[in-house]
Amino acid sequence: MSDTHFTIDRANEAAFSKAAEVRNSVFALKYHIAAPSGWINDPNGLVRFDGRYHAFYQHYPYEPKWGPMHWGHASSADLVHWQHEPVALAPDMPYEKGCFSGSAVDDNGIMTLIYTAHDDDNPIKETQCIARSFDGGKTFVKSPLNPVIPSFPQECCADFRDPKVWRQDGRWQMVVGTSHEGRGCVVLFTSDDLEHWEYRGIMAESDGTLGYMWECPNFCRVDGQDILIISPMGVPGHKNIALFGNFDCASGRMTIDHWQDLDLGEHFYAAQVLYDEDRNLLFGWMNMWDKPDPAAADGWSGALTLPREMHVRNGKLIQSPASELALLRGEQAITGGCRKCLEKLTGNCLELSIGMNDGDFIVSAGEEELLRISIRDGQTSLQLPDGSIFSAALTLPCDQPSLHIFVDQSSVECFVNGGEVCFSERIYPTAPLNYRVTGNATVDAWALNNAFEDSEC
Ligand code: FRU
Repeated sequence: MSDTHFTIDRANEAAFSKAAEVRNSVFALKYHIAAPSGWINDPNGLVRFDGRYHAFYQHYPYEPKWGPMHWGHASSADLVHWQHEPVALAPDMPYEKGCFSGSAVDDNGIMTLIYTAHDDDNPIKETQCIARSFDGGKTFVKSPLNPVIPSFPQECCADFRDPKVWRQDGRWQMVVGTSHEGRGCVVLFTSDDLEHWEYRGIMAESDGTLGYMWECPNFCRVDGQDILIISPMGVPGHKNIALFGNFDCASGRMTIDHWQDLDLGEHFYAAQVLYDEDRNLLFGWMNMWDKPDPAAADGWSGALTLPREMHVRNGKLIQSPASELALLRGEQAITGGCRKCLEKLTGNCLELSIGMNDGDFIVSAGEEELLRISIRDGQTSLQLPDGSIFSAALTLPCDQPSLHIFVDQSSVECFVNGGEVCFSERIYPTAPLNYRVTGNATVDAWALNNAFEDSEC
């Protein structure tokens, strides 16, 4: 794009005019949220509003690569069947060259987005802004008071982004990711009206081992446990983690006891929590910076993961696919079958439930092995054709089948041992997929249907 005058109308035209082409991509996902066309990164503004789920995302509608950020939008009545909505935010104000990540709240019946306005040409490059919808989430009006937080806190730095807002102690609370003396940290702000914010200080900070900058913070309370989710920069091998601790709203400080990876696959980042009454759901960006993406040749790049429900058991975060996903099931292809039945299974949009104690589950395209998930000696691992191995110990007792897997054309999400360990991985098959296990196994499998009303099977 040489002309840098971005508008919502032009963004919609760009995103939707190429949608049919993108749906024909061999890699096109059938039941995950992706843009009609163009680029996606982080999930943004996850909210349940007036009984409907809304998922926004970082979006560049003009090309399948990162560019001046917009917010794309999809909505759903049941968390599973989605429809595309018009682009929600374009970088069209003097104070922004990109609308970076942020969150959404229901402010007494007004859907309000809280986002970072980004401008590399300004020494104060990141400020916090709000936009309100007066038509239930179709269009958004940026506040004349923007930026509502016009600068980073003095003790932090100009990397100051990704506000996540929630309600606690009768006020709005906001965490923002930044850095303090070279250490990643999260700062806290409080407000009564989403427009005037009081700085409360550093809520939590790296002890020196958790990176130089924290992106996309989220605070949530899961089964009575305070959890701060962050995407730390500069911690090799740990892209997105959950910090366990104790948040004291009165002092604005959170102590950190221990932490855990959210997902060990290569394609999971910038996860955001959706506060859904008494449960906490989590969506991640199902891709990663600097990973090759063959789908871009077909005009699109990136998607959100499936929604996961979070729980805490024995001091560990467990994540399981939201139960509503059962609504996607079509025909049950295998019922209580064995290894042999799995070898006859075909299809690229499947849910599999596999009970095995010791062995490998293998996904191949023709003869070419694409990935292997193993359980052996109390360990689980993901092994990729380039030799990479990502592994973790399994410590929790579990009464569920050991692998719960969702395959969608160019993605595999696997929840091991009831969700104690998760792997999200993009695959780019050049032949129909086939599946195998080594060792004894019991297998259930379902064909899954499309999630987008406007897409074809
Ligand atoms: C994380 C991130 C955020 C930022 C956004 C920009 O992936 O770098 O910190 O707001 O992407 O698109």
